[in-house]
Amino acid sequence: MGNRVGNHRRQVLTILDPVVEDITHVWTTDQQDRLCRWIHQTLGIDVCSYKQPYVHRRIQARLRKLRISDPEKYLALLEKDPAEPDHLINALTVNVTQFFRNPSTFAMLEEKVYPELFQMADPGRPVRIWSLGCAGGEEPFSMSLQLAVHRAYHRRYRILGTDVSHAVLDRARKALYDADQLDSVPEKYRREIQAQEEGRFTFSRTIKQAVRFRRQDILDLDQYPISDLVLCRNVLIYFDRTRQAEILHRLAFCLADDGYLVLGRAETLAVEARDLFDCVDSAERIYRKKRS
Ligand SMILES: C[S@@+](CC[C@H](N)C(=O)[O-])C[C@H]1O[C@@H](n2cnc3c(N)ncnc32)[C@H](O)[C@@H]1O
Repeated sequence: MGNRVGNHRRQVLTILDPVVEDITHVWTTDQQDRLCRWIHQTLGIDVCSYKQPYVHRRIQARLRKLRISDPEKYLALLEKDPAEPDHLINALTVNVTQFFRNPSTFAMLEEKVYPELFQMADPGRPVRIWSLGCAGGEEPFSMSLQLAVHRAYHRRYRILGTDVSHAVLDRARKALYDADQLDSVPEKYRREIQAQEEGRFTFSRTIKQAVRFRRQDILDLDQYPISDLVLCRNVLIYFDRTRQAEILHRLAFCLADDGYLVLGRAETLAVEARDLFDCVDSAERIYRKKRS
């Protein structure tokens, strides 16, 4: 962390006061370091590894919302207001997602990835699927719907959803969605949707039981579960190339032989990790672990 904080020192965080636009508050290196250390120690997020312009934009947005311009006032608020840490996590993590996001990727999972995975995997254990950065559960539940409806695989499987944000994991565990959130669920899976109170909806027991959720920071490289398929979509974009390469190396280590990795549409394999995976479908960002 020392070096990263050192690099971080050279960055200047400028907060524009939304009320008095001509006053510019510059964070001193000490204030920046205190904020980074506080976030790391208290929230368990190593923000020094995130792309710094991104972190700065998100913190600025939070301060603008609070109409606070003085860094000291914000640091004091973090200590004083028990609700502010959650707001800061929400500001630092973007949870945009939807069921069957990028439908052609899910079509490719169904046509190619699941059949091979279920045929190859050791019959003595369940097929292990990991949705890393699962937000409100939309991605793991999309896979659960696909796998339940294609019972033809006749194999056990379990789906793990992990995320750094407690708030999104609470939503995921509740599995309650508004009708418009479910618009992107294809017709063939709709029989698994059940009406609940107050105009909200959930999924059948079978769909929910296949999915477990756990809080985990992608930067905790020691906590990666062994998996046969990992969806790591729209999470790597937060991190610099060095961290991306570390994450991809660890994912390759934790993937079973011939296991699959799916990245987000806007993401590419860091050059340093290209010898670890074969490309299965470049448009859908589907890769397969190379045999060692
Ligand atoms: C844009 S959403 C992507 C959701 C889903 N994978 C998709 O592609 O639709 C990014 C998710 O990554 C999570 N995230 C951000 N930083 C993370 C970290 N350090 N460790 C684990 N998850 C993280 C956010 O909380 C958020 O839920």
